[in-house]
Formats: sequence, C-alpha cells, structure tokens
Amino acid sequence: MKSTLISIARPVFGLGAAALIAFGAGCKPAPATAPSDGSTNAPPAAGAARRSIIGMSQCNLGEPWRVQMNAMIRAAAEKHPDIEVVFKDAQNDTLKQRTHVEEFVSAKVNLIIISPKEAQPLTEPVAKAMAAGIPVIVLDRRLIGDQFTCFIGADNVRIGRAAGAWLAKRLNGQGKIVELKGLMTSTPGQDRHRGFREGIAQSKIEVVFEADMKWLEPDARKEMESALSRYPKIDAVYAHNDPAAHGAYLAAKAAGREKEMLFVGIDALPHEGVAYVRQGILSATFEYPTGGPEAIDIARKILAGESVPKEIVLGSRLFTADNAAQGGEVLPPSP
Ligand code: FRU
Repeated sequence: MKSTLISIARPVFGLGAAALIAFGAGCKPAPATAPSDGSTNAPPAAGAARRSIIGMSQCNLGEPWRVQMNAMIRAAAEKHPDIEVVFKDAQNDTLKQRTHVEEFVSAKVNLIIISPKEAQPLTEPVAKAMAAGIPVIVLDRRLIGDQFTCFIGADNVRIGRAAGAWLAKRLNGQGKIVELKGLMTSTPGQDRHRGFREGIAQSKIEVVFEADMKWLEPDARKEMESALSRYPKIDAVYAHNDPAAHGAYLAAKAAGREKEMLFVGIDALPHEGVAYVRQGILSATFEYPTGGPEAIDIARKILAGESVPKEIVLGSRLFTADNAAQGGEVLPPSP
C-alpha cells in the first residue's frame, strides 16, 4: 500500500486550520513524482491556503470507463483552486477499498467521493465517515440504506429496459439471447438485469445462457466460449458493459460465428463502445455517464454549506450505426 504524507492548510468546515494529513501508515515524505495509481499528493501551491481536500475512492482503474471517470473528476477539479482531489485505486479489491475509506476518515479529508465496487461491504465504512462528519458522494454504484450525502448515477433499470426493448424490436420479438451480467453484488448489474427482463417480457425472446462476468472482458470472453459450445444458434448477446460485449464478440469471431448474432453493450465511451459501433462490432451501446463533473459540482456546493439533492439521476443516449455520427439519440422514455 502506498503511504503518502501531505502537508496542507485546510478549512475544517469553516474554521481555518493547518493540518498535517498522513495517508496510509508511516510518515514518509511525499515522493517527488506522481505515484502510479494517479494519487495527487503534491503540497498546495503558495496562496492556496484554504483548499479543501476531497478523497476519491475508485474501486478499480482496470476499465477505460473508470479511467475516464477519474480523468473527468481531475479536469473538473482543476478549474477550482479551492479544492484538491486525492485519488485512491482499490484495484478491484473490496477490502482495500474499505481501508481507503477508513484512511480518508482518519486523515480528516473534507469530503469523500466513492465509486464502490460492491454495495454491502462498502456501506459500513461510508456510514462511519458520515458519522465522523465527513460528507460522502456516492457515484455510479449504490450502497445499501441512506447513510450518504448524495448519490449520482444514471438509471440502470431504465437502460436495461431500453436495451431489452431495442433488441426485441430488432429481432422481431423472438430469438435466443446470451446475457453477460455485471458483478451481481453491485447495483448496476442487478438493475441492468432486472430492466432487461422487463424490456423483453412482452416478447418471445428466450435468454438461453446467463453468466456473471464481473464487469471484466476476459471473464466475458470465457463465458461466451461456454455459451457458443452449448448453443448452435445464438441471435444476440446482451452484455452489461462494452468490454464484455467486445469479449463476447472476440469469442464468437474466434469460433467463426460473429456474423450470426448481434452484440449490445453499455457505457458508450467515444473511444470504446461508440468506436465499436462505428466499426460494426456492436449493434448498439447505451451511454452510461461517469458523473465525474457532476460530482465535483455537488462537492463544491456541499463544501460551501449549500444543501444538495439526495439523488441526481443522469441521462443516457443510444448509439447505433444509424445515429453514431450524429452523437446518438436521447434514450426513449421507458415503455
Ligand atoms: C467499470 C464498469 C463499467 C460499468 C460500470 C458499472 O468498472 O464495469 O463498464 O458501466 O462499471 O458500475
């Protein structure tokens, strides 16, 4: 684990107070160069005496979508000299992410942003942060209960439902589908599954194979290999994210069967899902905004003592070969 020492002068909810914050165990001087996990730990520039420190706990940086989330948070934060964001990457390890939240609490950061790996195990440390008087913004994946300040994310049930309705229409109401689910202990996986089943409920579509690919492309590829070996005919793959849709495509391509079926994913990053649509690899992808800029906006309001909504729901767009060049289209309202 990385130990970082930063010396900052920061307001503690309105009280100007010089503080020495140690992240992690031990007291080592801050490294001269930026650490590889993207942490920001340079001391504040002269004159930035009243900076607030925001601890950002990212569950994983293995997927482009999460790299993009951090980049958007960083870019939004850089516009405001009154805040500094300290990033931690839990590398897809729930226990590590719990520790990161606890470290932010003992370091007495002014605010925490967390994009949790799983709902249940991260609920308690966040509740403890709240109890210690540190506001918490939860991004993208939910926790259990209401011990947080603000949740920001898109409506995954709605996205799943739209994906189901879109596929049902494209397949004229029937066909055999493989569903590659995101980590089912995380709420987007649960919601994208539930919404999809609602979206296909009125059709004769049959989900012949479903597996939890834990949001990971290599897992999705492996699961798809099993599906291909068991089912001689597959009409479509509904994957809960674009990396999984791509993994499924690669498995089908290796079996010489990629033209037999449609591939649908979620995320729609310009350089990932939307690029796959443009290349004809995916038939559709649904945008899942990272919420990074909104998180910084809300964080500054909280730090300024303003009240904020408990929940902010972000919109989504659908990208297909027909509309990708025009920037996709706003998701139609749920049927
Ligand atoms: C990245 C990711 C995205 C997905 C989101 C759901 O870790 O899997 O692809 O949309 O998390 O929380």
